[in-house]
Amino acid sequence: MRIEDIEESQGYFTTTVALVTSKNRDIVNVMSAEWSLRVSLEPFLMAVFVGYERETYKLIHESGEYGLSYCTDEQGELAHIAGNYSLSSHNKFELANFKTFPSKYISAPLIDECISNFECIVIDEFKVGDHAAFIGKVMTAYYDPEKKPLVFHNGKFNHIGPKMIH
Ligand SMILES: Cc1cc2nc3c(=O)[nH]c(=O)nc-3n(C[C@H](O)[C@H](O)[C@H](O)COP(=O)(O)O)c2cc1C
Repeated sequence: MRIEDIEESQGYFTTTVALVTSKNRDIVNVMSAEWSLRVSLEPFLMAVFVGYERETYKLIHESGEYGLSYCTDEQGELAHIAGNYSLSSHNKFELANFKTFPSKYISAPLIDECISNFECIVIDEFKVGDHAAFIGKVMTAYYDPEKKPLVFHNGKFNHIGPKMIH
């Protein structure tokens, strides 16, 4: 059954969800992003695509840095809060229990208990359609091999399935 539908087809990607942390002066924020990925091995670069209307856009644009903390399958509520509320009207750190730990190379904190975290310094910013592309040099990174990733598909948060046997 193949359905031609340019709108609905966009719900059929499968992505991770990063909690993007940003800070400028004493303002700290966190937002969800499914559009983030590694874009270079050497140097190690990570991109995140942020809508210009997001408060996160201003904070990253002004500070030149951001953190990426990839959600586990136990962090669906955090991904929901960070992705459905804006700093323009809410302090998300008061809406949910976002545990943080200090970064080494950036001023924004990272989110604790994630599957991986990356400290990024912006080396390039450009416009891609209706979003800003930030390209960040990864200064340091962390991972937890005991965690499982949150999988975003068709507008829902899912667990990863069992490994395939070849
Ligand atoms: C699962 C999920 C993924 C999202 N991915 C992105 C994304 O990749 N880029 C983006 O600009 N917004 C994305 N959003 C929307 C922002 O997270 C949302 O607009 C948020 O409220 C912005 O917060 P801020 O205004 O405090 O920065 C996503 C939302 C959800 C729920």
